[in-house]
Amino acid sequence: MSFEFDPFDPQYWDNPYPWYTEMRHNHPIYRHKTEKARVWPHYWMISRAKDVNDALFDWKSFSSASGTLIDTDASLLPETIFHMDPPRHDQLRSVLARVLTPSRVANLEPIIRQQAQDLVDAFKARGSADVATEFARSIPTMTMTRLMNLPWGEHEKFLKWNLATLGGADFTSEASLQAWGEMDAYWKQLVVDRRKEQTDDLVSMILHAQVEGEHLTDSEISGFCGLLHDASQNTTINMICNAIISLGRFPDQRRKLQENPEMWPSALEELLRYESPVQGLAREAMCDVTLSDVTIPKGDQVLLLYGSANHDETVYDKPDVLDLDRTIKTHWTFGHGIHYCLGNAVARLETRVSIQVLLENLGDWEVVEDGIVRGQLVPTRGVNAAPITFEPVMA
Ligand code: HEM
Repeated sequence: MSFEFDPFDPQYWDNPYPWYTEMRHNHPIYRHKTEKARVWPHYWMISRAKDVNDALFDWKSFSSASGTLIDTDASLLPETIFHMDPPRHDQLRSVLARVLTPSRVANLEPIIRQQAQDLVDAFKARGSADVATEFARSIPTMTMTRLMNLPWGEHEKFLKWNLATLGGADFTSEASLQAWGEMDAYWKQLVVDRRKEQTDDLVSMILHAQVEGEHLTDSEISGFCGLLHDASQNTTINMICNAIISLGRFPDQRRKLQENPEMWPSALEELLRYESPVQGLAREAMCDVTLSDVTIPKGDQVLLLYGSANHDETVYDKPDVLDLDRTIKTHWTFGHGIHYCLGNAVARLETRVSIQVLLENLGDWEVVEDGIVRGQLVPTRGVNAAPITFEPVMA
């Protein structure tokens, strides 16, 4: 029987999981034609957890150097460690790893909590809210501005740039290229400004850092600014939105978490697993690779479906059920191997604190199912609107 799955086709966005299951069972290495064939005429989707995991570890066979977005010319995008292989990747990654310390992350907690509280205060008496636009969208942008010491007055621009470049289907459209260009100019100027006036933010720390006795070039530092901006917003926005939707759909689980806050460590991992905000990123095959009797030829693009790996029934019992008691040894929400998310502690903190504030303030909520608007499946499980209703809470 013929099988069709196109992650860029909106008909699959509401619930891609039945298609992932079909792929894992019957088409584990599935070839799909690209719509525009700008760089690659087709790409392969890898859906089983073991295959996704192995590919992420084997960067020599599955390289990031030609980009991680489907059918996108990476030379048009800013150069960052996202699109690099070792050795340069590892050298530059270590710079960010050294400065994004646990204490820097922990210091963000009261600020995130206050912002989440202010946002909930603004709508809690109403009995309804669009948690995508009125809640989730502000928190990651604010956190990023704090980490990088950027002016809060410009937060709308940062969010707009992020959604214009990574939130749609074409990452090098005219509008995207314009936003990438504006950001590039902004980061270059920021590096010049920080050289004059240094603070204790991440950008200043990176400016001081050395790799093998040498400081980074201005373009490497502005690349880091772009990386932090790009990697931290849309991903976490969608994580928070998807967690609110999941807890709305499983009220028993939500109440259990409300009554047993000590469950948070395992609950957070299950929320991350259940609706992975990053559903898939790409690699290029550097040699012929044979998996499940299918040979992916050298030079082809491959989409690693993290969202499918997270629902693989060979790893998780009843994967399509949200079970906050589940013991999770691993999931692929933050990737695996050399590109494993450097901001995972920040993302975990933002998600936990924002959901805790909602639980503390609203108690129960219901998702208005036909009001949910999805904007994307890959790379991120995008949510453009997520209306909820609840008992109005008077101050
Ligand atoms: C829930 C939110 C987030 C999710 C789901 C997420 C997911 C990911 C994933 C899957 C990768 C691996 C990319 C690959 O395999 O090619 C990654 C890399 C990365 N993430 Fe995150 N991320 C999130 C939030 C953040 C935040 C808040 C930051 C920064 C503060 C951040 C910074 C990075 C960086 C710098 C990399 C590149 C690492 C490398 O290439 O070595 N991420 N992220």
